[in-house]
Amino acid sequence: MSVIYDETRNLFFINTEKTSYVLAVIDGYPIHVYWGKKITQIPENADIKDLFGFFGTADENFPKEYPTFGNIDLRAPAINVQNTDGSTITDLRYVSHKISGGKPLLAPLPATYTENDSEAQTLELSLRDELTGLEVSLYYTAFETFNAITRSAKIKNCGNGAIKLDTVMSASLDIMNDNYDFIHLHGGWAGECNIERMPIIKGQQSVDSRQGKSSHAHNPFFALAEKSATETQGDVYGFNLVYSGNFYAGVYASFGTLRAQIGINPFNSGWILEKGEEFQTPEAVMVYSAYGIGEMSRTYHRLYRLRLCRGKYRDAQRPVLVNNWEATYFDFNENKLIALAKKAKSVGIEMLVLDDGWFGKRNSDNCSLGDWHVNLQKIPSGLYGLAEKLNSIGIKFGLWIEPEMVSPNSELYDKHPDWCLHVPGRRRSEIRNQLVLDLSRSEVRDYIVSCINSILKSAKIEYIKWDMNRSLTEVWSRSLNSERQCELYHRYVLGLYDIMERIISENPDVLFESCSSGGGRFDPGMLYYMPQVWTSDNTDGIDRLYIQHGTSLVYPASSVSAHVSSVPNHQVNRTTSLELRGCCATAGQLGYELDLCLMKKEELEKIKEQITFYKEIRDIVHKGDLYRLKSPFEGNSVVWEYVSENKRRIVLFLFTTFFRKCPGKQNIKLLGIDKNFLYKEKTTDKKYSGEYLENVGLFFEQTSDFEEKIIVLESEKV
Ligand code: DGJ
Repeated sequence: MSVIYDETRNLFFINTEKTSYVLAVIDGYPIHVYWGKKITQIPENADIKDLFGFFGTADENFPKEYPTFGNIDLRAPAINVQNTDGSTITDLRYVSHKISGGKPLLAPLPATYTENDSEAQTLELSLRDELTGLEVSLYYTAFETFNAITRSAKIKNCGNGAIKLDTVMSASLDIMNDNYDFIHLHGGWAGECNIERMPIIKGQQSVDSRQGKSSHAHNPFFALAEKSATETQGDVYGFNLVYSGNFYAGVYASFGTLRAQIGINPFNSGWILEKGEEFQTPEAVMVYSAYGIGEMSRTYHRLYRLRLCRGKYRDAQRPVLVNNWEATYFDFNENKLIALAKKAKSVGIEMLVLDDGWFGKRNSDNCSLGDWHVNLQKIPSGLYGLAEKLNSIGIKFGLWIEPEMVSPNSELYDKHPDWCLHVPGRRRSEIRNQLVLDLSRSEVRDYIVSCINSILKSAKIEYIKWDMNRSLTEVWSRSLNSERQCELYHRYVLGLYDIMERIISENPDVLFESCSSGGGRFDPGMLYYMPQVWTSDNTDGIDRLYIQHGTSLVYPASSVSAHVSSVPNHQVNRTTSLELRGCCATAGQLGYELDLCLMKKEELEKIKEQITFYKEIRDIVHKGDLYRLKSPFEGNSVVWEYVSENKRRIVLFLFTTFFRKCPGKQNIKLLGIDKNFLYKEKTTDKKYSGEYLENVGLFFEQTSDFEEKIIVLESEKV
């Protein structure tokens, strides 16, 4: 049983295999009691308030599970409502609860799921404001073996008139201790997911997005780490939002207490709830690890790989592909693509992805988004014919699209100039010469769904790269009255989820990859629809080490699309070896993004070897456990260790970023292996006991900048 109700003391234990989250109903309010290592009982005859060291209910620091505005606690509320009479006071008291097996769907929002009811239990706490009739259901799901819990809230207006939700968080957590570090991921275009760790200071610390997408700038994630926590030890609490739009994620520390919150960004946002209507928040995924940051990551990886990603390609191996973007940019034709495909086939690549520029009149980024018909001048055989030709070579066909956008220079814009987000009378800001379609409008969504579905029906297309290359500006919609314009950011995301759901369910055999100028929308919301993400437009082998390392804090290697590109690198002008670029990309979903026709015979041979090797070890990387042994953010080496579930196979990726003579040699102690196994290094046949690998480790000798090494170890039965 994951959720246990102790009736005598009004206590709820939300347990997983290794963790407990405990709350109590005290004086009518759900109060946070504990989150940490599993506890199965609390001393009898003891007062809960005394046990967990908090003060009386009347205190402004009382740790409420879903704090409201309008009482003496004047910290940020989890929910802030403009009531029908204009007041903003809410008083939510416990009414009842329900414990059920499994997890209810959150549709129309993406969320983690169960495959059968025994995997998880859900607690629904019903709260009510007697005066206004506002009802709030707090959902807590305990994923027993995944050791994660999820939270969300559903708001129902059971009052007499319309109300407005100004703030509505997915999760709020009060901890009676503020002695933590705040860890988050920040970045920019071509430099995503840098890890930042800083001490929590008194006051507000948060990350957010106001871009209409989760954004390159910040990921909808943060962790609270005990000061002494490392990769392998210490308490760490992770918070991640299953949402692809404007989010807020942060903490407020005051007087020895901490309020952590995650949810839709209240900035420029609101939702009118008419009498009888409901509002569902996105889901927050919360992970406690007693064994440091590494264990938190592995928990997220397992949960997202198996119970967030869906469809055929959740488990199926994905093709090794070549993408023509960095090979040709807009300058391609059918013959060039066929030549690329033939070379690709000769080295073991399985799919060609035709990137931007195949439709309308598009020969640069200044036109045709929205005109989703093939350019027959470039591709005389059309998509159907091209797919047939590729298939006859033994290569699958994948295609790039950017369905959320319209170019002002397009047939679509000529026909429907009002379909983009814009404010009448104001400038329509272009980014990359394009505007954003108003996905809150059903006719716009229907157009997109019918275009994309008919493209997918028109030819054997087995993969789609779904791009999104700008933020939202001039966010206003013709379809909403002035009072409801505040709903538009969220309505855009709901519209996006609607079109993705309709397209993927119509095309269950297609592999979808999401992209937003690289990792501008790398979030769990997108992973629900598309199991992999173009991690960054930066394909440099060294920069990618930082980007992939940071991304791995939350997201599994199976979701990290990683390509080998040419040198000097197009984004940073750096030259690294083909081996290094291959090694880095092998630690994700491997692909190539260069003109194979320009490569020397020896280089093509190397690529062939890389692909053969990748196919041997990819299961360990994609389905195994990651141990980050060395971080590029902390030194000049990077070591990633992947261990198969049965601990019999290990792949170690070792890199030097910038060589320093001293120390030059490092011993790398392995983690997560079986002490009692005897492991054999594949290329040298050297044998090591698990105990030796764990305690002494392997020596990594560094000799120059930009070097790489892969070590594969397999256990023999002892
Ligand atoms: C941005 C993507 O991140 C690139 O990989 C490429 O697809 C371009 N868009 C095409 O316009």
